[in-house]
Amino acid sequence: MCIGCHGGDGNSTNKTIPSLAGQPRQLIATQLFQFRQGNRKDPQMSPIAANLSNADMNDLAAYFATLKATPPSHRTSADNAKLGAELAKKYQCTQCHGPSLLGQQHIPRLAGQQPDYLRTQLKGFKANTRADMDGNMTSAAQALSDNDIDVLVDYLAGLTAE
Ligand code: HEC
Ligand code: HEC
Repeated sequence: MCIGCHGGDGNSTNKTIPSLAGQPRQLIATQLFQFRQGNRKDPQMSPIAANLSNADMNDLAAYFATLKATPPSHRTSADNAKLGAELAKKYQCTQCHGPSLLGQQHIPRLAGQQPDYLRTQLKGFKANTRADMDGNMTSAAQALSDNDIDVLVDYLAGLTAE
């Protein structure tokens, strides 16, 4: 049932729905738990997570983590390719999300993620409406202007995840 929304191979083709392929295993399991507990809320995802056991969440995380992320269809503008890389360093996105923005442990892969999804999450962290386990991401988003967010989204969505 996950694949109807997240794509048959875990690579979403809907700009508002995240890809799961190649996400760190711990990230997937943790986010499913957050949805089930009601800390993170979404009208489509919350009812699905409500019915998952701990074992289901671990199995699903292990499965999607092993699928390969396909090259993104998004094309970053030349200006934002340069500017986005500068912002990702300046705001230390790469410190936590990794030098190639592939994520690690409970921290998500951003490279090649769907653009509208990235934008919604960044605006949500800034507005403190997207749940955040340790507060790190909410803090990281405070300095971002709307224009910074647009540049970062255009940059991240076009990065190949490998
Ligand atoms: C009806 C569509 C739909 C179905 C079915 C669905 N999801 Fe989702 N899922 C979403 C949407 C939409 C989001 C983004 C929610 C948001 O904006 O916070 C999401 C988010 C997620 C996230 C968070 C990813 C991240 O990067 O933080 C995970 C993990 C996830 N889904 C796993 C699953 C799994 C596993 C299944 C099957 C058991 C599933 N989803 C079924 C629509 C769906
Ligand atoms: C101090 C560490 C840290 C820094 C710095 C940081 N992040 Fe994050 N980020 C996280 C963590 C941890 C999460 C998962 C939050 C959670 O759900 O609890 C996250 C989640 C996200 C998400 C949600 C993606 C998804 O799949 O749900 C986006 C988008 C994001 N970060 C973008 C950025 C950008 C862009 C920057 C730089 C401006 C940045 N992050 C800087 C730690 C960090």
